[in-house]
Amino acid sequence: MRTQVGIIGAGPAGLLLAHLLRLRGIESVVLETRSREEIEATIRAGVLEQGTVDLLNESGVGERMRREGQRHEGVILRFGGQSHRLHLAELTGGRSIMVYAQHEVIRDLVKARLDAGGQLLFGVKDVSLLDLDTKLPKLRFHDSDGAVREITCDYIAGCDGFHGVSRPSIPSRVRKEFERVYPFGWFGILVEGPPATEELIYAYHERGFALVSTRSPQIQRLYLQCNPNNRVEDWPDARIWEELHTRLAGSDGWRLADGRIFQKGVVAMRSFVVEPMQYGRLFLAGDAAHIVPPTGAKGLNLAVADVRVLARALAAFYGTGQTALLERYSEDALRRVWRAEHFSWWMTSMLHRFHDESPFHHRLQLSQLQYVTGSRSAATMLAENYVGLPFDKD
Ligand code: APR
Ligand code: PHB
Repeated sequence: MRTQVGIIGAGPAGLLLAHLLRLRGIESVVLETRSREEIEATIRAGVLEQGTVDLLNESGVGERMRREGQRHEGVILRFGGQSHRLHLAELTGGRSIMVYAQHEVIRDLVKARLDAGGQLLFGVKDVSLLDLDTKLPKLRFHDSDGAVREITCDYIAGCDGFHGVSRPSIPSRVRKEFERVYPFGWFGILVEGPPATEELIYAYHERGFALVSTRSPQIQRLYLQCNPNNRVEDWPDARIWEELHTRLAGSDGWRLADGRIFQKGVVAMRSFVVEPMQYGRLFLAGDAAHIVPPTGAKGLNLAVADVRVLARALAAFYGTGQTALLERYSEDALRRVWRAEHFSWWMTSMLHRFHDESPFHHRLQLSQLQYVTGSRSAATMLAENYVGLPFDKD
């Protein structure tokens, strides 16, 4: 088989890259280890930045998101028993976020891909990357029938997430990795029932962080800071509700309503970046190259920003033969990556309790929260990062 761009992974990064390339007349093949049912059902993030929303709309895959997604113009920080609203739209000249689950984005992109007759192979195994430092890199794999297949490509995009094969295919001598693992995780639940609040609530409490998010008018998404080694069995429903009520309690009369919990899971918290994000004819995008803790809601949005830069660079090559943008891909993508790394680390540090934390540290966190909710400049700093800084100009 022969293609222009071989794409490993059908997450948001791989699927959106295939879609943006097709719009520019560039052919690709997407390889995915899991089944369509599995990728369309996995519960992940849910907050889209303004730039992500605009890109999905402009590229013709935003129709269902516009109908079913929920636009939020504000976000709430809760501490000391009080809620403090940041008016995102007012602070950022009209920008906002869209609450629309990642697996819904996946469903829209898979449909667009298949409707366009694009190649998307599910259930592949043992993908390996060959000849990356030549002009004709290859992907070898077992297809879903177990047959060995090989695709010769002009370029390969490694969009296979944090545990994929692409990043380790870059020789370790040219790879520099930066990492921070946090001493806590998030316990996430899905609950049946109406929203308890119109906007997301990020709560800081001496027992730990809690987040009230939503998925739809019927399904709510809640998280609470937990021990990273906790298992689902450690958190019976009663313990979850007690902890959420304690962490979200206040003197303002607002109260979270209980509902039937139908899904539970533990999310690890990590910051990670690999530099450079390219080697020979391989380009990494999304979680394959970087991880952020979920506090800033940046993971999915960074994957989108990477493939926007990569699609533009590939389009320049196929349009004019120029490789300048491809050569600069890593440098261009990493500027936004590090901004999001800093923002996610900062939000995480401000909103969580650390085991070794002293009363001094706790007071500093409260002071920071008061500043962010009390000063227009500080609030603007949070807001413009949260809704997403504008993309670099084309
Ligand atoms: N071969 C083929 N596919 C693979 C391989 C492999 N060896 N390893 C992993 N995959 C697939 C996974 O099954 C998954 O569907 O690659 C896809 C990677 O998707 P994501 O992990 O969603 O990564 P990405 O597209 O970069 O999106 C980042 O996902 O984890 C969330 O919070 C994160 O929202 C962010 C987004
Ligand atoms: C979610 O709804 O899953 C969600 C929302 C905001 C975050 C992280 C996750 O910061």
